[in-house]
Amino acid sequence: MLVVYFSSATENTRRFVDKLQLPNVRIPLRANEPELVVDEPYVLVCPTYGGGVSISGKQGKPVPIQVVKFLNNPHNRSLIRAVVAGGNSNFGSDFGKAGDVIAAKCNVPYVYRFELMGNDEDVATLRNGLIANAATLGLQPPRVA
Ligand SMILES: Cc1cc2nc3c(=O)[nH]c(=O)nc-3n(C[C@H](O)[C@H](O)[C@H](O)COP(=O)(O)O)c2cc1C
Repeated sequence: MLVVYFSSATENTRRFVDKLQLPNVRIPLRANEPELVVDEPYVLVCPTYGGGVSISGKQGKPVPIQVVKFLNNPHNRSLIRAVVAGGNSNFGSDFGKAGDVIAAKCNVPYVYRFELMGNDEDVATLRNGLIANAATLGLQPPRVA
């Protein structure tokens, strides 16, 4: 079981992923950092950016450019099994929209949406759900320490 995530300098998504207590790896924030290449099936956790049509009046780009770059690598894209998106419900119908875009483009289920750094219920629901459904999703069972 691997969680691949992106988080900007505000690190909300990093804090959420840390609380899941599952093996994880971060997509680099800066272009001068080495590219991330993964080698096992993963669930992608991605915050939503772009502001959305509900706020800006125009269609934004909800998936961060760093995540687009990561998924543009065909090897990385071949290993995604599910997506989880973060966001802020202030964005109305664009709340967590990165998950809709990634699910459609990569043909994987959008399994969970959370706000900012998530709460204890989010952490428990997602962690338990991923472990219980690992085989169905095509994720490896979590390694026992
Ligand atoms: C410029 C900007 C645009 C955003 N646009 C959206 C949006 O369209 N939909 C949404 O649900 N959240 C949106 N958010 C909220 C972020 O997804 C949220 O703050 C998230 O927790 C950031 O994660 P990070 O700190 O790991 O980068 C936006 C935040 C910023 C700063």
